[in-house]
Amino acid sequence: DVTPIPGPLGLPFLGNALSFMGEETPILGFERLADIYGPIYQVVFKGTRTIVVSSAAILEELVDEKRFQKLPPLAFSNDTSARGLFSAANDDPDWGQAHRILIPEMGPLSTDKMFDDMKDIANQLVLKWARKGPEDRILLTDDFTRLTLDTIALCTMKYRFNSFYSSEMHPYVDAMMNVLQESGARSTRPAFISALHFSENAKFQESEQILKKTAQQIIDNRRANPVDEKDLLNAMIYGKDPKTGLAMRDELIAAQMTTFLIAGHETTSGLLSFTFMYLLKNSSAYLKAQKEVDDAVGKGPINLGDLKKLKYLTACLREALRLSPTATALSKRINPESHQPFTFLNKTYQVESTDRIFVLLGKSQRDPAVYGEDAAEFKPERMLDEDFNTLPDGAWKPFGNGVRACIGRPFAWQEALLVAAITLQHFDLRLDDPSYELKLKQTLTIKPKDLYVRTTLRDGID
Ligand code: HEM
Repeated sequence: DVTPIPGPLGLPFLGNALSFMGEETPILGFERLADIYGPIYQVVFKGTRTIVVSSAAILEELVDEKRFQKLPPLAFSNDTSARGLFSAANDDPDWGQAHRILIPEMGPLSTDKMFDDMKDIANQLVLKWARKGPEDRILLTDDFTRLTLDTIALCTMKYRFNSFYSSEMHPYVDAMMNVLQESGARSTRPAFISALHFSENAKFQESEQILKKTAQQIIDNRRANPVDEKDLLNAMIYGKDPKTGLAMRDELIAAQMTTFLIAGHETTSGLLSFTFMYLLKNSSAYLKAQKEVDDAVGKGPINLGDLKKLKYLTACLREALRLSPTATALSKRINPESHQPFTFLNKTYQVESTDRIFVLLGKSQRDPAVYGEDAAEFKPERMLDEDFNTLPDGAWKPFGNGVRACIGRPFAWQEALLVAAITLQHFDLRLDDPSYELKLKQTLTIKPKDLYVRTTLRDGID
């Protein structure tokens, strides 16, 4: 027996686009519909049926790579240039080549070696806040974005954006925001309406050019000034695919660099911002995390080995990413090689190979069936190793799954832990507005909106 999938009625041509058009935070639009239609519902965008799911049990089935695989986001489907790792399809040879060359460069051993560069940028943040003092309020998300952009660029390409030396964000950041925002808007907007957005389209093209030019400049600069360094950029320029023996072409290297610069900083900046927001609204968790850092690190410079001691702070990061997954959704489809019937939760649904399956992580990770009635609360204790390691498979997937899981996870984790620790060690933070309530700002990722803090340097810190 096939169970019909519920969903709002759509209009001819427009499908369900009108429900989302102009929405500042489309993810909340999807979540609202889940509140109405339940853990599985359908909408139509640009003629494609999208099945939207939001329970941990369904996600547990979707992570089975024999049955399902990643479907790259619609936002990139019209892009005809070389695709970076994130936006390429599984069967795209460019994905295979880049995956094989880059995986070893981003593992835990490689990220360990990036610790000093990460600390270099983290110290720039500390210096800035120490000089500012508590009189100035700080837009936390902006400083974390400066930090994560500078960190990914320095660690992987030895390139310095020097964002802390400028009051304006680097033009690259504006261009990137614009591309992300417009790509997101286009993904739910019918093409003929997008075509009429003349000024947005011109700005989009200009922004894309800034991204491509910045990447090409970094490649050209490296070719002109080679460094004997085992970084990601050298791996891409000089590395050979172990399977085919081929080197990557420039256009593909540039696409990977843009991917790394975007994927490698937006999400981690959001993770740090959400973690501090939750800590600042939960003073006992804040004090516990700060005490853990004081006990583990003391007042001197932090070392790589210290990070492993920060069990509670690790749990805080996991819990923030559970409640506010900065990459908000996973996008899947039936694995074309699989010929099994599609059942979720013992019900058979008709799922076609043309359907997009969209997983709302913000909902699946707050599933009361896994996390209980207090699923929406910030409780880092439930994310300590023992409980975290025994969570069901679909319960916590902010980094995606399987062969298409996040390649930057060890990097992001080391960076976030280091920065959270160094910040707690050096400063007492408080919310500028103690009654701050979370509002989201969405590009493709989410961040807390207008999150201002004040920082006071603690006594006796080196
Ligand atoms: C893929 C999340 C940090 C680079 C992904 C995916 C998720 C994700 C959910 C899979 C998306 C899908 O299934 O469609 C995050 C989060 C981060 C983070 C939450 C930080 C908290 C980073 C960093 C880098 C990075 C620091 C680079 C150093 C990538 C790349 C992919 C990816 C290249 C595509 C991998 C592939 O498909 O081969 N990320 N990410 N991410 N991430 Fe991350």
